[in-house]
Amino acid sequence: MLVQIPRLLSTEQVAHMRGQLAGMDWVDGRATAGAQSAGIKHNLQVPEDTPAARVLGDMILSALGQNERFMSAALALRVYPPMFNRYDPGMNFGAHIDNSIRFVKPSLGTGAPIRIRTDMSATLFLTDPADYDGGELVVEDTFGNHSVKLAAGDLVLYSATSRHHVTPVTRGSRWSSFFWIQSMVRDESARTMLFELDTSIQALRKQIGDTHEVVRLTGLYHNLVRRWADV
Ligand code: NI
Repeated sequence: MLVQIPRLLSTEQVAHMRGQLAGMDWVDGRATAGAQSAGIKHNLQVPEDTPAARVLGDMILSALGQNERFMSAALALRVYPPMFNRYDPGMNFGAHIDNSIRFVKPSLGTGAPIRIRTDMSATLFLTDPADYDGGELVVEDTFGNHSVKLAAGDLVLYSATSRHHVTPVTRGSRWSSFFWIQSMVRDESARTMLFELDTSIQALRKQIGDTHEVVRLTGLYHNLVRRWADV
């Protein structure tokens, strides 16, 4: 599944984030890479424990919580605190599959880290596509390669089981936020069917209203979620 979420952030929110990020320290992206991906990861990122970056991450989490398309596609149980990266000219990230489990440090610094199974990966674009060349996110699935380069403020959500890479930036600088989601519905085909069903029900409600049959379909949707979700 590869789902685009247009305008997750407004133009004003993107401008605010870019202004804040411009003043932050950026470090080599290999800081959070595993041994295998360290050799193919060439980018910069804001250290995870930067307080101002956590504030921006919370803004993104809040926007996700209000976005019906995201809620329907992800059926999120946990979202990894959003991180921020950038690719300047010559930077890229070779083909890889993201780590299966990520650990979130507790905010008070005590207790065991929270584990997140990465069912879905997300990239939130923060640069106008006209301002850079290259830097496409290429996601491989069984139907081939999908090249993704979206407007600033748009999100792409894709299965974390997919191999993917970021092509070299040849002009400008590509800034984005990235994070992972543990879904309540672990099985990707079940999650995809629920998204299809919910999207169709929402469209039907607009077209014909809450008829008896639409209400029954909504009930069916919830009963399938009950069957497949772990919370
Ligand atoms: Ni990745």
